[in-house]
Amino acid sequence: MGREALQAAIANYRGEEWKDDHEEGALICKCFAIDAVMIEEMVWANKLRTVQDVTNFTKAGGGCASCHEDIEAILERVLAEKGEKFDPEAPAAKPEPVVAAAKGPMTNLQRIKKIEQVLESLRPTLLADGGDVELVEVIGNTAYVNMTGACSGCQMAAMTVAGIQQRLMEVLGEFIKVVPASQMPKEAVGA
Ligand code: FES
Repeated sequence: MGREALQAAIANYRGEEWKDDHEEGALICKCFAIDAVMIEEMVWANKLRTVQDVTNFTKAGGGCASCHEDIEAILERVLAEKGEKFDPEAPAAKPEPVVAAAKGPMTNLQRIKKIEQVLESLRPTLLADGGDVELVEVIGNTAYVNMTGACSGCQMAAMTVAGIQQRLMEVLGEFIKVVPASQMPKEAVGA
């Protein structure tokens, strides 16, 4: 399936109309359908330094690894623009915990507070890209979020949701699933 067809399928699955409002770039990671523009933006916005950093943020490079050379080339180029040198041997950045990892089981209120803190810390990056995220509900280990702005409904939103989920799991120290609020159970919506 081509990239556009995949994006359209994702939108269709969510009952949304697909509209590609991102600048097109060369497809770099075929496993995850991620293009050069997206990787460049993520490297710029999130101070990524290594292929592993890029994989952690975008999933690009997390499959067959055949795109690693291309990702390195992007890192080299973008870091050079920032006046930095790409070091292929550099260790992957360990994300700074936004809040201390939880000790022992959390109450739902503690979980919600931590999730909100993590989302707040991620919002500047999303806002820079014309998007935003809002926590709607937390049921058990599932956080329902609203993605809004330029990226809602496009493939970026799917990847952003995956990135948010990964970050939350790092900070909360437990499995958490991030799901668009449109998929919230009807009982929870109170419809
Ligand atoms: S093409 Fe990127 S991981 Fe396979």
